[in-house]
Amino acid sequence: MTMPPEGHGTRILGTGSATPEKVLSNQDLEQILDTSDEWIRQRTGIRTRRVVDQSTGAGTISLACDALENAVANTGIDPLEIDLIICATCTQEMTCPSAACRAQARVGAFNAAAFDLAAACSGYVYGINIADTLIRQGRHKTIAVIGADAMSTVMDYSERSVSILFGDAAGAAIITRDENPERGCIYQNLGADGRGWECLYMPRREIDVPESDKETPIRLGCLRMNGREVFKFAVKKFLSVIETTLQEANISIDDVSQLICHQSNLRIIESARERLGLEKDRVYVNIDRVGNSSSGSIGLCLDELNQAGRIREGEIVLMVAFGGGMTWASSLWRV
Ligand code: UT7
Repeated sequence: MTMPPEGHGTRILGTGSATPEKVLSNQDLEQILDTSDEWIRQRTGIRTRRVVDQSTGAGTISLACDALENAVANTGIDPLEIDLIICATCTQEMTCPSAACRAQARVGAFNAAAFDLAAACSGYVYGINIADTLIRQGRHKTIAVIGADAMSTVMDYSERSVSILFGDAAGAAIITRDENPERGCIYQNLGADGRGWECLYMPRREIDVPESDKETPIRLGCLRMNGREVFKFAVKKFLSVIETTLQEANISIDDVSQLICHQSNLRIIESARERLGLEKDRVYVNIDRVGNSSSGSIGLCLDELNQAGRIREGEIVLMVAFGGGMTWASSLWRV
């Protein structure tokens, strides 16, 4: 959907993020799994991930609250100016109340409506697209979008093909109305294909485990993944979503100053970068340090870039994600 250049636009007022202190390295995983640092680095590009200390009660809610608090501090905004909080997550400790409500209470954003959004790893990009649309429509003026996942809380650490990938993180952005209609999200795409749900799912009940996945033991409440299928889907989807987005917006890849891809696997990101012919410094990577943090991934990348002064006014930034569902999303911004 291309945004009409009338009325007003939007801008990212500021960003924040949160990562737990505890580091889980490949060497740590070698101690508990039949795996090796070399295998993990070659197949995924990951060296370390961050994981919450569950014994202290830390988890998705604390990460979401910390990221929003950090974004509020970084922008200096009065929290009462925020009129909606969207928290993308697939690892809520509680489905009621939402993590967004908990974050609202933490920062004192008492004029904000609040809800959670479930689109797995695509959740943050779904969230910023919805925020941009609502602000352009005039329904809201200032929206906080959080992506937060404590993936370590849904990991089966005896399952080596899944647990090596994931880590915990949250990113938040505060998006507000801008008088320039050309500013903000200039093209967005949301997509889903529910037929692929069995590739990535988190069963709470035995009865929900699909026939195709009954051969190996299942730990209820933990993420199951058909890595090979997701990999094939991701490589194809990333490229086609990026190409469609640029075509529809009539923007050349040369005009994109930063491509922020969901940090799923370095090989998937590198495959898109090489096919698009982009230099390394225009495709952000932090998966080596933090692993795949699902809904937290793109928000954390955006904040790291922003804090490093690499999100400059007027430049074009493209965010692209795919994830369980299957879902995908792109968001092209003039920041
Ligand atoms: O946010 C979205 C979520 N998910 C993704 O983006 C995941 C996409 N998929 C992937 O990243 C990759 O499929 C994985 C990293 C999960 C797996 O890499 P792969 O190159 O697709 O490996 P594979 O599943 O084809 O397995 C190759 C071999 C197998 O052994 P055999 O059958 O060839 O003897 C696996 O048993 O590697 C073995 N293997 C491992 N060996 C050491 C699988 N996991 C491990 C491991 N350590 N951790």
